[in-house]
Amino acid sequence: MSSRALVTGATAGIGTSFVHALAARGADLVLVARDTARLESVAAELRERHGVEADVLPADLTVEADVARVAEAVASQDRPVDLLVNNAGASLAGWFGTTEIADEDRQLDLLVRAPMHLMDAALKAMGERGRGAVVNVTSVAAFTPRGAYSAHKAWLTNLSQWADWQYASQGVRVMALAPGFTRTEFHQRGEMDVSGVPGWMWLDADRLVAEALRDLERGKSLSIPSKRYKVLATLARHAPTALVARAAKRGR
Ligand SMILES: NC(=O)c1ccc[n+]([C@@H]2O[C@H](COP(=O)([O-])OP(=O)(O)OC[C@H]3O[C@@H](n4cnc5c(N)ncnc54)[C@H](OP(=O)(O)O)[C@@H]3O)[C@@H](O)[C@H]2O)c1
Repeated sequence: MSSRALVTGATAGIGTSFVHALAARGADLVLVARDTARLESVAAELRERHGVEADVLPADLTVEADVARVAEAVASQDRPVDLLVNNAGASLAGWFGTTEIADEDRQLDLLVRAPMHLMDAALKAMGERGRGAVVNVTSVAAFTPRGAYSAHKAWLTNLSQWADWQYASQGVRVMALAPGFTRTEFHQRGEMDVSGVPGWMWLDADRLVAEALRDLERGKSLSIPSKRYKVLATLARHAPTALVARAAKRGR
């Protein structure tokens, strides 16, 4: 397992599960998100509970200069990052075509541009050292037509799978992690009505991350945690678009 990991969106949900799981395996952490007080509090908990180093790097990943600062940390050869987890994400309260285009630009920055820049920095730095890994948190939405969000996640899933194949020979691994509905702050923050989503569709973030880390160790380029979502993702890839789009409309 890696000795130093940088995780974006480390202050809530899946990101917090990642930093705890990695710290429990002895990895030092660099935590990225916007809320400095929350970053400090998660970092203190990691130091206390797991005895690891935890640095905080406050950044808004929709701001170009902030992304550049985080990319610099990822590229550092003095304090190497062995695992990058591109996890930070959010959703807009409304379907593409009804939202403000400036908000859509910020979504594109957060879900596509920021992970692209950080992955670029990681591939170059890790390539030079001949080892390292990147986990890009996408979504099972990547396999369904479901507005701009799923299009962004499809882009990152596709790039991740190619990058894993392309850079494996240099010792660098890339894995797309495609979660289904997971209990976090995500839906509340995005003002989504998830009351129609049945209980069986909800995943636990800690279990999701444990399965994802197992998949990374097994060398998978795509991790879809839980049997139910493996089945749903397979169906979504092969069923007619109109049918999948209608089924995937839940949760908004
Ligand atoms: N929950 C689900 O059902 C689900 C399903 C599929 C995929 N996903 C994906 O999983 C990832 C994590 O989501 P989650 O469910 O854990 O969400 P969450 O509980 O809302 O946490 C989101 C994290 O991202 C950070 N963040 C948001 N905007 C940011 C920005 N502009 N710059 C830097 N950090 C930012 C937040 O911290 P600050 O607010 O302090 O910045 C927070 O730490 C996302 O990429 C999401 O698309 C989630």
